Amino acid sequence: MGGVKELRTLSARKLLLLKLSQVHHLLTVFLFRFSCCLFIMSSRKFFVGGNWKMNGDKRSLGDLISTLNTASLHDETEVVCGAPTIYLDFARSHLDARIGVAAQNCYKVAKGAFTGEISPAMIKDCGVEWVILGHSERRHVFGENDELIGQKVAHALESDLGVIACIGEKLEEREAGTTEEVLYGQTKDIADNVNDWSKVVLAYEPVWAIGTGKTASPEQAQEVHEKLREWMRTNVSEAVADSVRIIYGGSVTGANCHELGSQKDVDGFLVGGASLKPEFVDIINARA
Ligand code: PGA
Repeated sequence: MGGVKELRTLSARKLLLLKLSQVHHLLTVFLFRFSCCLFIMSSRKFFVGGNWKMNGDKRSLGDLISTLNTASLHDETEVVCGAPTIYLDFARSHLDARIGVAAQNCYKVAKGAFTGEISPAMIKDCGVEWVILGHSERRHVFGENDELIGQKVAHALESDLGVIACIGEKLEEREAGTTEEVLYGQTKDIADNVNDWSKVVLAYEPVWAIGTGKTASPEQAQEVHEKLREWMRTNVSEAVADSVRIIYGGSVTGANCHELGSQKDVDGFLVGGASLKPEFVDIINARA
């Protein structure tokens, strides 16, 4: 009788040990995955772009530049200011070297009879290293289509400029449930023209959130960013999906930047209105 009881206790102990080792294994796998995720996230340098659009003059932009030059900016964040074409040279020569400058648009060829346009070669000649392409105002106010944006991306990259490539759905597209279709289509036309993803930052900017004060919620932004990263994994490569920076734009402010910036797949921001205010410094330091 005593022997049976002993046997039972023994197998109960064995079962307990087995269960404990299973729990230990699951916990190890979970912790490993979690730390990989944190590592990948932190290996993507946080990127904050300011898009000054068609705003400012030498005086006001000069004041803004002085504020940025003297501010304490988080070392681990890459900062780039998008200046109006006429002020690119001014911005580059006055901004501290730790802050990058971007043009807000460029054409698809190096030179020629294209009145009013500027080329990547000219942008580079001013010491400027980035260009914003495919911004929603270029798409919807000036009628640029996916094909033209793709050609501009290809030529800017060939010319060794970094590209902040913008995509975003309109309100009626979101309401019609076509957000993913629209974003994947725009991303494909960009991706087909990229051969070096280290020079590209993808900016998700829902059109309904730009300049409207209506920000996407952190959950909405994270959901789209995660899907875009998965699209990259399937259609480009694992390595690009893990390394490409996907930034959010649309009514980002000093008040909402921390929560948005803490989302796993949000690697920074493209900021319009608030980039013209001292509050831009808080947005730059959102992940500090
Ligand atoms: P917003 O603009 O921050 O003023 O909404 C963002 C953008 O257009 O890049």
